[in-house]
Amino acid sequence: MAKLPMGTITIAPNIHWVGTKDPSRRLFDGLIPLPHGTSYNAYLVMGTDKTALIDTTNPGFENELVDKVSQHMDPTAIDYVVMNHAEPDHASACAHMLSLAKGAKLVTSAKGKEAAMMYFAVPEEKIEVVDESSSLELGGKTLKFIDAPWLHWPETMFTYIPEDGVLFPCDFFGSHIAYGEFYADEFGNGHTLELAKLYFAEIMMPFRKPAMKAIEKVKALEPKLIAPSHGVMYREPKLIIDAYTDWAGEKMKRKVLIAYVSMWGRTEHMVKVLKEALISKGIEVQMFDLTVTSIGEVAKQLVDSPVLVIGAPTVLGGAHPVATYGTLLTKTLRAPTKHVAILSSYGWSGGAVKQLEGLLEGTNIDVLDAVDSKGPAGDEEISRILKLADTIAGKLDELP
Ligand code: FEO
Repeated sequence: MAKLPMGTITIAPNIHWVGTKDPSRRLFDGLIPLPHGTSYNAYLVMGTDKTALIDTTNPGFENELVDKVSQHMDPTAIDYVVMNHAEPDHASACAHMLSLAKGAKLVTSAKGKEAAMMYFAVPEEKIEVVDESSSLELGGKTLKFIDAPWLHWPETMFTYIPEDGVLFPCDFFGSHIAYGEFYADEFGNGHTLELAKLYFAEIMMPFRKPAMKAIEKVKALEPKLIAPSHGVMYREPKLIIDAYTDWAGEKMKRKVLIAYVSMWGRTEHMVKVLKEALISKGIEVQMFDLTVTSIGEVAKQLVDSPVLVIGAPTVLGGAHPVATYGTLLTKTLRAPTKHVAILSSYGWSGGAVKQLEGLLEGTNIDVLDAVDSKGPAGDEEISRILKLADTIAGKLDELP
């Protein structure tokens, strides 16, 4: 599609990307690294009678959003501001846009209404609640709405324009990319999917069941273009739909993730023995030293690793803090991990194993074994590690 001045592009007839890019942002939710920055995509849909702005932008980018809308129309004449999701990176500028477009309505779900009033002080009379039975006619373009709660907040919904086959799912199918490319096929499908998987790990992995429900709804729509509110758009929607089906589904890879930290090489030796034993059985192993690995990479690997091995020495009576962080991440992101094993070494008193097992309480994760070695692993510990490899192989064979 033709590029227009001020960095807006037309993605379908009279539908324009008016988003903002934030290449210097380096962290999301104070947790996940953003090596490629991110974008806050907003879309202007211009019917023959009415106009809708779908999603807005992050705090601090309001003027840029207004400038971009102004390339196409007078922002004060917008009729609808659609809030698919109330998180501030997409919704905080809703109030600003409504203050300019005094006749406009905020269009959102019932729970979105509560959030808009609570977070952004949007007056109740300015809000129009929609659901799957609703549609808004813009003139040659219809806004339809898809209930998609818990992706990843309770109020989330998608907007769809059947005349053009364009789906606006906000965070769903998003990726943190702020480069010049607008489409996955321009950025590179493989590279895009790696970043989309990292995004999925942090944002959608805890909500795999709602994600699967939404995927079925999206498949039924057969969209021609998926336009999320972070990162690139998909002109070949099957690419990201199939990837999400894999990541959110029940089918697991025959794969083990080993995440470890070692102070003097004893714990590292133990995890390496296990790694070699697993590889010799034809099992894919991804092993990461937590002290030098991005927490985002670990989260991404958790998406399709049914078995997690934590390597952690005892430090001052407990687990090395870096290992506790990795373990808590698994729990917090509700990773699909089925089984955990712990490999640990200590000098004069243990404690790491007990603490790590405690951190996993309240989950459905089964601890297969915990090999705790005083000093370097000896024959007895090595033998247990080799037996653990057999156990892991057996568990992987039982998985769907
Ligand atoms: Fe991109 Fe949940 O906000």
